[in-house]
Amino acid sequence: MLIMVRSFFFCLISSLSIQGTLTITPNDSIQGNKTLVSASGTFEAGFCTFGNSKDQYFGIWYKNISPRTYVWVANRDAPVKSSTAYLTLTDQGDPVIHDGSGSGVTLWFSNSSRTANKPIMQLLDSGNLVVKDGDSSNGKFLLESFDYPGDTFLAGMKLRTNLVTGPNRSLTSWKNQEDPGSGEFSYHIDAHGFPQLVTTKGTSFFNRAGSWNGYVFGGVSWQRIISLFSFSLVVSDKEVIYQYENLNRDTVSRLFLNSFGVAQRLIWSHNRGWEAISNRPADQCDYYAPCDVNSVCNVANSPKICACLEGFVPKFHEKWSSLVWSGGCVRRVNLTCDGDTFQKHTGMKLPDTSTSWYSKSLSLENCETTCLENCSCTAYANIYINGTGCLLWFDDIVDMTKHSDQGQDIYIRLAASELDHIGNNQSFDSKKLAGILLGVVAFTIVLGLATFTYIKRKKLAERGVLKIFHWKYKKDKEDVELSTIFDFSTISNATNHFSDNNKLGEGGFGPVYKGVLKDGQEIAVKRLAKTSEQGAEQFKNEVMLMAKLQHRNLVKLLGCSIHQKQKLLIYEYMPNRSLDYFIFDSTQSKELDLTKRLQIIDDIARGLLYLHQDSRLRIIHRDLKVSNILLDNNMTGKISDFGLTRTFGSDQIEANTNRVMGTYGYMSPEYALHGSFSTKSDVFSFGVIVLEIISGRKNRNFQDSQHHLNLLSHAWRLWIEEKPLEFIDDLLKDSPTPQEILRRIHVGLLCVQQTPENRPNMSSVVLMLNGEKLLPDPSTPGFYTGTYHHSIQVESSSRSSGAYSQNEATVSVLEAR
Ligand SMILES: *[C@@H]1O[C@H](CO)[C@@H](O)[C@H](O)[C@H]1NC(C)=O
Ligand SMILES: *[C@@H]1O[C@H](CO)[C@@H](O)[C@H](O)[C@H]1NC(C)=O
Ligand SMILES: *[C@@H]1O[C@H](CO)[C@@H](O)[C@H](O)[C@H]1NC(C)=O
Ligand SMILES: *[C@@H]1O[C@H](CO)[C@@H](O)[C@H](O)[C@H]1NC(C)=O
Ligand SMILES: *[C@@H]1O[C@H](CO)[C@@H](O)[C@H](O)[C@H]1NC(C)=O
Ligand SMILES: *[C@@H]1O[C@H](CO)[C@@H](O)[C@H](O)[C@H]1NC(C)=O
Ligand SMILES: *[C@@H]1O[C@H](CO)[C@@H](O)[C@H](O)[C@H]1NC(C)=O
Repeated sequence: MLIMVRSFFFCLISSLSIQGTLTITPNDSIQGNKTLVSASGTFEAGFCTFGNSKDQYFGIWYKNISPRTYVWVANRDAPVKSSTAYLTLTDQGDPVIHDGSGSGVTLWFSNSSRTANKPIMQLLDSGNLVVKDGDSSNGKFLLESFDYPGDTFLAGMKLRTNLVTGPNRSLTSWKNQEDPGSGEFSYHIDAHGFPQLVTTKGTSFFNRAGSWNGYVFGGVSWQRIISLFSFSLVVSDKEVIYQYENLNRDTVSRLFLNSFGVAQRLIWSHNRGWEAISNRPADQCDYYAPCDVNSVCNVANSPKICACLEGFVPKFHEKWSSLVWSGGCVRRVNLTCDGDTFQKHTGMKLPDTSTSWYSKSLSLENCETTCLENCSCTAYANIYINGTGCLLWFDDIVDMTKHSDQGQDIYIRLAASELDHIGNNQSFDSKKLAGILLGVVAFTIVLGLATFTYIKRKKLAERGVLKIFHWKYKKDKEDVELSTIFDFSTISNATNHFSDNNKLGEGGFGPVYKGVLKDGQEIAVKRLAKTSEQGAEQFKNEVMLMAKLQHRNLVKLLGCSIHQKQKLLIYEYMPNRSLDYFIFDSTQSKELDLTKRLQIIDDIARGLLYLHQDSRLRIIHRDLKVSNILLDNNMTGKISDFGLTRTFGSDQIEANTNRVMGTYGYMSPEYALHGSFSTKSDVFSFGVIVLEIISGRKNRNFQDSQHHLNLLSHAWRLWIEEKPLEFIDDLLKDSPTPQEILRRIHVGLLCVQQTPENRPNMSSVVLMLNGEKLLPDPSTPGFYTGTYHHSIQVESSSRSSGAYSQNEATVSVLEAR
């Protein structure tokens, strides 16, 4: 056997590994500790063992992640016992593992009659192990490991459920942490009724992620998830295909079904290791149908998590009151199928759809009518969160969970007489009161017991389920420091000793220079004014915090450098300057056509959503403006300048400050007047930016001699006069898609509403921009008439502005006029 060792190539990638080979042909093999490596060295495949067992498996793992994290094991249920085992390809291109003594175990079966002349096996950088025909240039794979999922779902992989022929692809858990053999949990799309993502244990449901809401499978807290990933579900008569992609190309992520049946979505960072950004099941209500039928589960009411739907009563009252939920609930009054009504429930994870019926086109009214026409129909709802589609349920309602702000509305059928009953529910009579008092006493006793068992169980669960992830916290801060603190002389050399030729501009915080590091990487260096009060330690901490924020739509902060009193911030370099350079300039603005502008609006929204909803740090930008949006080579918009951001613990939503900083024209009324800021103040600034991008005009310098209006009120006036298209930049006037522009103006107006409560949050904004959420009517925007109140206390402080732009400085001192 011949083993190709392309060490010359791998030296470029990693000086550590010289053992990886790039391809396998029928003349090659993989054996012992030789490995197959993907082209850019992301993944590695080879023989491995688990735990104390000597059994050998052929697996794929991340090459540069330690401790070793497996994403796939080929012969998971057929380990080889001999250490002389090797893997090779047959002449037809079937990978086989031989135990070294002659008889072979075939890993994959493919009965297609193919004619591979020169089969080669390669490991792709997506983690897909493929066999292709070296003689054919059509790029098709004869075989790919992505068609045979293990316990890990990677970006680009497809989970298919084929209604006609099968096979149905699913993730299957390992037996336990040390045995990759097929365990009892399976994660797949259940396509009986409307497709839903489920985890099953054996043949029964273990967890249901809810039905597809047009965006994601709704049963997890998905608002943060959609800032990192995009999901797609393609449903046809024959097949349902589910997949996801990372929005940021650099994100390393995986979804992993652990051996306890918990599906964890994880992202990797060098500083924190694998971080779980969602777990399913995450709480008691996430297990399948904990409250049995016709009930709602709500963890917020723990330990009394189950409640009957209105119009229903516990099937077994006594058991129910001692927190034993089996049997669920039954109707108080049977349906008559004549004059029945519906009771609306909001914020729900919709019930099990495996026996549902659906139509993508039926309106909500017709949905209700259709349900009424069939006596066994018990509930209806919109399919999608944008208020379209129709889903019907029959007979018992199973596995419905209260899901706060992220859930959907559902209408449950009740006998007409029940409506009065529910209406009267509020009125108290003394008999009821006595009953309630008795109930309270009984409940308190039970609660004590239940809390005790609950806590005990929870502890066990945590130990069991989460044990494997403890190691990720062990990595300490040190490696962060190494990557983010630059040597001052390095930066000085890179910028030609801060020469004027390298100067990109001057912001309020100080000048910005372009630099080139020794390895050729281009950087932008912000040299902070020496007057900054902040101590070196505090500064470093801030920088480290900010360097952790990584998103495709944020300018990456690479690190900082400190030399005596001199502080530098080092950013990735953005060749295309900032957005204001384009949209407010009569010649440059031609470069930005409608598609690009809409894309940039989307980019800013995504970046801001990430800042607002990162679970660890809630970042409020506070100085969002067009000059703070930088553009990369592809004209992707990136938010820059976190110089003013405040970091919060994630529970803190609003704070007050007596130091008002921001930029005239972008400040929300409550911030400018009372110094009160929240994520909704950023939403306001975002709205202004949207309107500026669409109109090509600055809010600040907007002159309208006729009406003495600012840009926002101008937009509003045109909107109520029903000629909103006059608002558009002349350059975009011939655009073929006025609806798209109208929607942006509409969203812009919603974002600049006077009161923060009336503005949408960024996750709603993202949905609205995509047309996935109905837009409420806007009312008069909150705009600043220019009268500042003397009562706010204003401190003078350091100033900031866009990284490269000089013409617009942040105001930190507000003058009365
Ligand atoms: C394998 O080796 C044989 C004989 O050494 C040679 O004829 C053949 O072309 C080789 N095949 C490949 C795919 O390299
Ligand atoms: C690789 O294999 C060689 C020969 O079997 C052995 O000496 C060496 O220890 C192995 N290295 C590792 C890292 O297992
Ligand atoms: C493929 O061929 C193998 C052996 O010839 C056979 O056992 C297996 O059932 C076939 N599979 C399919 C899906 O036809
Ligand atoms: C695949 O799943 C669908 C529904 O989820 C089911 O109807 C079908 O029978 C399954 N096919 C196979 C081969 O298991
Ligand atoms: C609502 O969302 C669905 C699924 O994403 C989409 O197909 C449909 O076009 C949307 N409808 C509207 C009116 O936006
Ligand atoms: C409702 O109908 C079921 C069977 O259809 C029956 O067993 C039950 O007694 C009825 N309940 C009432 C309150 O009439
Ligand atoms: C009501 O719906 C169920 C489930 O789809 C169906 O089996 C039944 O035939 C329908 N009944 C009528 C009267 O349409």
